[in-house]
Order: sequence, then structure tokens, then C-alpha cells
Amino acid sequence: MLREHIADVRLTHADRDVYDPSDDSFALVDALVKAAEGWHDTPPRICVEVGSGSGYITCSVALLLQHLGVTAHCIATDINPAALRATEQTLHAHNVASRVDLVRSDLLLGLRQRLHGAVDLLVFNPPYVPTPDEEVLRTGIAQAWAGGYRGRVIIDRFLPLVGDLLSPQGQLFLVTVAENDPEEIISIMQQHGLLGRIVLRRKADEEHLSIIWPIWDFVGENQRGQGATHLTGLANEGQHFHMCAPFLGR
Ligand SMILES: C[S@@+](CC[C@H](N)C(=O)[O-])C[C@H]1O[C@@H](n2cnc3c(N)ncnc32)[C@H](O)[C@@H]1O
Repeated sequence: MLREHIADVRLTHADRDVYDPSDDSFALVDALVKAAEGWHDTPPRICVEVGSGSGYITCSVALLLQHLGVTAHCIATDINPAALRATEQTLHAHNVASRVDLVRSDLLLGLRQRLHGAVDLLVFNPPYVPTPDEEVLRTGIAQAWAGGYRGRVIIDRFLPLVGDLLSPQGQLFLVTVAENDPEEIISIMQQHGLLGRIVLRRKADEEHLSIIWPIWDFVGENQRGQGATHLTGLANEGQHFHMCAPFLGR
């Protein structure tokens, strides 16, 4: 059972300036556990999380890879230095600190050239809560949730980077809520050459979350089918959490 090989939420480092693992984090890890069933056949070699917060997701990825015997280069980034310290502590608590590099970065802007076309697994649970735009400029814990107009300010800065970063086998997992208009996000991804679909919907408190999974527009039908198979069973599990995830094949 891959589910037994994820981070223990009780061992994640808590800090008042850092986002605690929540329903969105758990939904994302659920999708990653499902995707990890495919890592035997197509192991991800470069894995990147944007906005690692407490480190719960990056740590789960590192533990899943370790369990599967996959050697991968993992990178966790966050704009908030307190989040990177928390991620480090969480990784240490699970004995996987040596498996992940930590980089303070605004999205992946500083790593863009180095990671061009190389990222096999890209994960982002962004600040998606609709707020006045100026809140996006706040620092600390506000950066975990303040998403500006329609909760899309950070997401819309991130989307154009995705196509440059993903490898031919690359997958993106992106959390959104209904207010972000996941269908419009999918159509924006399409303009960048990616076909996307929602692979997980879940309702958590007042939030309707989705995880989106886009794929390259020119992926062959067979590959497209295989990619989707890993995540079958996640869609419509509960309702309203949305997860966007892409699958690339060039
Ligand atoms: C909703 S929290 C998710 C935290 C963690 N990944 C999880 O799912 O529990 C969003 C994270 O993104 C980070 N973040 C916000 N804007 C960012 C940016 N421009 N670049 C990198 N990280 C950012 C925040 O500091 C925060 O840690």
C-alpha cells in the first residue's frame, strides 16, 4: 500500500508563519499516491514542488520515491523563508532531508534555465483564495492563501512557466478552487500546448477544490490513455476539490 509511505502529518513542522497541511494538501497527496502507481514504469527523475510550506507534500513525494527505490533529484521551493525552514525540519523528521534540495524562489523564476524541459513531476498547491489584489503583496502566512482577483494572480503567473519546465514525460499537479475557474485554467493551458482535465474534485469546508491534469496537445492517443489510467478513480471522489495535473509527451 503506497498510502502507508507518505509523510506523517504529526511530524510536519508547525510555524505560525507557515501553512499547515490542510484538506487541499491531503487531496494533492491523494492524487500523488495514485500517480505513484505509475512510477514503477516511468520513474520521475526530477521532481519539483513550488510553495512547499510545511514540507508535507515534498516529504511525501520523497518517501514514495524512496519506497519505490527510485533515485530522483527533488527540489522544494518557497518564497517564504520560514516555509523553507519548516520543510527542512519536516524532511529531517522523516529522515529524507538528503533527498531534497531547498531553494528560496519566486515561483521557479531563478531555476527556469536550469530546469528547462527537465521536470518530470511538478506540484503546486498555490495561494488560490480570492482577495483584493494588494493582499498578494503581503509576506508571511498571507502568501499561503492570498490569491488576488478570482484567486488567480499567482496561478496566472505560474501557468506560462509550465510548458518550458516539463520534460516529455512530465506531469503537473495543480490545486484550484471553483472561484479560480478551473475550466478556464485548462483552456489557458491549451494555449500553451497542454490538454488538461480535472482528475479530482473534493469539497472541504466552504471550498470546492479541483486538481487539474493537462497533457501535451500532440501526445498520441495511447500515451494519453495510459497517463489517465493512473488517476482513474480519483475523479469525483467526494466532490468539489479540483486537481489539475498535466502529462506531457513530446
Ligand atoms: C497553500 S500553501 C501550500 C503549502 C504546501 N505546499 C501544502 O500544500 O501544504 C502555498 C505556498 O506557496 C507559497 N508561495 C506563495 N507565493 C509563492 C511564490 N510566488 N513563489 C513560491 N512560493 C510561493 C507560500 O509561501 C505557501 O507556502
